[in-house]
Amino acid sequence: MDQVLQILPKQTDPRVLVGFDTSDDAGVFLLTPECALVQTVDFFTPIVDDPYLFGAIAAANSLSDVYAMGGKPVSALSILAWPREGELDDLSQILLGGSDKMREAGCVLLGGHSIADTEPKFGYAVTGTVSPNRILANGGARPGDALVFTKSIGTGVIATALKRGGAATKYLDGAIVSMMTLNDRACEAMLSTGATACTDVSGFGLVGHAREIAAASKVTLRIETAAVPLLDGALDYAEQGAIPGGLRNNMDFAGCAAWKAPSVGPAMEYLMYDPQTSGGLLIAMPEDDVAKMLAAYPLARRIGSVIEKGERLIELL
Ligand code: CO
Ligand code: CO
Repeated sequence: MDQVLQILPKQTDPRVLVGFDTSDDAGVFLLTPECALVQTVDFFTPIVDDPYLFGAIAAANSLSDVYAMGGKPVSALSILAWPREGELDDLSQILLGGSDKMREAGCVLLGGHSIADTEPKFGYAVTGTVSPNRILANGGARPGDALVFTKSIGTGVIATALKRGGAATKYLDGAIVSMMTLNDRACEAMLSTGATACTDVSGFGLVGHAREIAAASKVTLRIETAAVPLLDGALDYAEQGAIPGGLRNNMDFAGCAAWKAPSVGPAMEYLMYDPQTSGGLLIAMPEDDVAKMLAAYPLARRIGSVIEKGERLIELL
């Protein structure tokens, strides 16, 4: 996608604080000296069978990019593709799940647009606000910073095990709870620290998104794989070969940017590239702030550190 975007003229408007050329989670536009708009859009095909849960997960996922910039979501527009012969009850449940999650986030739904399509798709364009001097973008991580991550990895392999008829209900439930969790409190906790960079971990997996921070900040990120929180069942499914196609694509794309210690096993390596839906925030912050972050948001874990730019952008230890 980056290559395709290069054809577009560079943004020269000084009010564009974060544009599309830095692989950031959302664009940021300066409205007044005190207030900037954060804007993002995300939609996808159903990831779970239950339509209400799908709607809620789609909303949490769409909101996530605003939190990843340090912003606060204020309004949303829904985007829907729905088959002509689709069940209207299912559609109502998707919309209800989404609107309940939006309400939980304090984000108002202003409208939306739908088209007929053979495969259902759902998501939102979300607008938020951020203080122009407190934008958390990909660039900004400094050698010596710690890396903190706020959710567990593994939604991709668990969804793949489900498609193949093999995901235990208890593992699937864990993944659903994680995907439905808003990143709002994680963001609040982050803003109480001196965080220097942030992204949410989504389709490109942990390494893919870490690579964007490393590239934009001109540093190397060292990830201690044993410290990365994993969803229950994820490692087992990865070992059993429930590898999503997107995971292999992520590995093909970002694998050459990562050095891996021999001690990291193949299943763990796979999980580092697992595409996440509504994943957690990956945050670089001063080492001294980690204890404060973990106290403010107990699900967060310190998973590594930022070092001077080395031969590779990512080191997996
Ligand atoms: Co994102
Ligand atoms: Co996004």
